[in-house]
Amino acid sequence: MRLAISTGGGDAPGLNAVIRAVVLSAHDRDWETFGILRGFGSILERGSGGTAGGWSGLGRVMLNEHGLIPLGSDEVRGITHLGGTILGASNRGNPFRWETSDAAGNKIVVDRSGELLQAFAAAGIDALITIGGDGSLAIAGELARKGLRVVGVPKTIDNDVVGTVSTFGFDTAVATATEAIDKLHSTAQSHDRVMVVELMGRHAGWLALHAGISGTADVILIPEIPFDIEAVCAKIRDREARGSRFAIVVVAEGAKEKGGDLVLQEPERAGRAARLGGIGAMVAEAIAERTGKETRSLVLGHLQRGGSPSPSDRLLALRFGAAAVAAAAEGAFGTCVVYTPPNITRKPLEEIVGRIKTVPLDSGVIVTARRLGVSLGD
Ligand code: F6P
Repeated sequence: MRLAISTGGGDAPGLNAVIRAVVLSAHDRDWETFGILRGFGSILERGSGGTAGGWSGLGRVMLNEHGLIPLGSDEVRGITHLGGTILGASNRGNPFRWETSDAAGNKIVVDRSGELLQAFAAAGIDALITIGGDGSLAIAGELARKGLRVVGVPKTIDNDVVGTVSTFGFDTAVATATEAIDKLHSTAQSHDRVMVVELMGRHAGWLALHAGISGTADVILIPEIPFDIEAVCAKIRDREARGSRFAIVVVAEGAKEKGGDLVLQEPERAGRAARLGGIGAMVAEAIAERTGKETRSLVLGHLQRGGSPSPSDRLLALRFGAAAVAAAAEGAFGTCVVYTPPNITRKPLEEIVGRIKTVPLDSGVIVTARRLGVSLGD
């Protein structure tokens, strides 16, 4: 069997651990493994003016004539603890909606999925292991419907993939965000300020809730609970009345005011999701105006996606990678490996794609936050 491996969408700590586990467990069966650079880039950029090779996390790499890098145990040595992905990632690489220019230089979107399937056939690839979040798994589902043998591995720091209790990358991002919130406490306290920190989480508040509760935030605003700015200010005034002259407000980037809209940096474009961001600054401004408190805001941004994966993310990623190869060995294509504690199991891709795992309003973390007196802005 010849397996291709692709890491699409945004990166997450633990991608390299999955790649390593796929390569080692495939080689254990005497199978061959090949990496694709930048999502499907090193295949689809060939001959279109794009770079077919160049640099990757492996250094300067030589691609074969199909745009693939043969991956053996040497290539995946010592990468388990490294953040990012040695294969590179891209959130502009949807083969079904590939952005390019026509002869006149106008931007157009074309479906190149057929070409991708032909390239796999020409390279003798038997199956694809695709490691991605909702977007990349949706692409995997579409490729599976076109006949490609695919196994998905769920990745995202947002933890919003349905069917799996957790995705790798989430635990590390929670640790990074919690450490940041801890640091904000001391400066907020010194200056009697309100500090508003915007965390990632487009559709789901898992990251904001887990880091916010662990970092003892006073207010946590998540996409699942549209907020009332007056309720947020009431919590800050209440703290002030009790002698706490500072406050920490955690806002998920996908949080919105009751009756309001998502705050965007850039709208959705062909083949690219909308870029969120800015809600934290808006909340900070409203708090300052309404309470008269000195308020500062910051966006933690891509710091949350970087760095070395936590031991728990490494383990989950390694288990996912080995389970994906086992799925291929059993012919379980069109599936995604998932974590259903204590085991890694698998679910059909069609049960997973096109849906988002939001935080249930009666979930333990929400109940805990409320019991601790954290305001969720409602
Ligand atoms: O999906 C993970 C995520 O981290 C989102 O929370 C965030 O909106 C997005 O990626 C940002 O991606 P990028 O800036 O790489 O386009």
